[in-house]
Amino acid sequence: MKPRIVIIDTDPGIDDAAAIAVMLSEPSLDVKLIASVSGNVGIEHTTNNALKLLTFLKKDVPVAKGAAAPLLRDNRFATNAHGQSGMGGFEFPEPKKEFLLEENAVLSEYRILKEAGEKVTILTLGPLTNIALLIQTFPEVKEKIEEIIMMGGSTERGNIGIYGEFNVTIDPEAAKIVFRSGIPITMVGLDIGRKARLTAEDLEELEKSGEAGTMISSLFRSYDGGHVEEGVKMYDPSAAMYLMEPELFETKEAFVDVEISSPLTIGATVVDYDGTLSETKNAAVCVDVDVERFRRRYVERAANIKC
Ligand code: BDR
Ligand code: CA
Repeated sequence: MKPRIVIIDTDPGIDDAAAIAVMLSEPSLDVKLIASVSGNVGIEHTTNNALKLLTFLKKDVPVAKGAAAPLLRDNRFATNAHGQSGMGGFEFPEPKKEFLLEENAVLSEYRILKEAGEKVTILTLGPLTNIALLIQTFPEVKEKIEEIIMMGGSTERGNIGIYGEFNVTIDPEAAKIVFRSGIPITMVGLDIGRKARLTAEDLEELEKSGEAGTMISSLFRSYDGGHVEEGVKMYDPSAAMYLMEPELFETKEAFVDVEISSPLTIGATVVDYDGTLSETKNAAVCVDVDVERFRRRYVERAANIKC
C-alpha cells in the first residue's frame, strides 16, 4: 500500500521529539515536512530542535520555520517542563542546517498540499498558529486535508489553566479557527496523555535498546522536572500513536469549540457529545486508550529505531 502523506506541525519539545522519532521510523508514513511553531520555547529553538533531532536520527526530512508568536497574544513558554532549549536532558549533535527550507512553514504546507496527488494528514503537536494562518490564507487547500490529528485540548482539567490545555490556550483564537474550519479533526487531549504513561521499567528498557531509546529515555528523565516514579505522561506520543495505531484508542464524535474571552476559562475546549449546544459535530474526540498495549507498542517502536 502507498504510504500516507503526513505533515507534522510541532514545537519540539521533549514529548514532541519522542513522538516524531517513532513516526519517522514507520514505513506506512511518508512525512513530507516538519513545520516548527513557537510554543514550548521560541521559534528559533523549536526550529533548531527539529533540525537537531533529524541530524541525530539521520533522517532527511525538510524543516520549515513557522509562526514566531500566537495570532493575537504574547508568547508564554514551557521551559519549566522542557528546559531552556526546549529539549533538555540529552546532548544532541550540532544540527545540519541543510534540512532547513528558506520557505516559511505556511507556504511549505500550502505547496505540499497543492502538489500532493492525494489527501494529506496533518498532525499537530503544538499551538495551532500555522494551521490557522494556512486555512485563512489558502482556504482552497482545506479539501486536500484528509484529517487533522491534534494533540491539544482536554475533556477534563487543563495544565496551563484550570480547564486550559497548553497547545490550545497559548493560541486559543488559532485553535478556534481550526475547530470551525470544517476539516475532519481528531482531538487527542490531555486526559489521554495523562493516562498513557511510561513507567520507570519502560525507560530502562529503552536505555538498553540503543541510541534512539537512550535519547528518548534521557529526555523523559528531565521532562517536567523528572517525575518518573509517577509515570511519564505521553501527550504528543499519544497523537503519534493514534496516527499509526488508532485501534488502541476509543473516540466519540462531538462538537468542540474553544473559549476565547472568559479570563477564568480561556483556552478551555468545550466538548459537547450530546448536542446540548445544537451544533454540528466537528471532531472525533479520544475518550480512552488501552494503556498496556499503548506502552508495549510505543516502547517496541522506540526500541527499534535505527540511527
Ligand atoms: C502539550 O504542551 C506541550 O508542552 C507538550 O509538548 C504537549 O504538546 C501538552 O499540553
Ligand atoms: Ca508539543
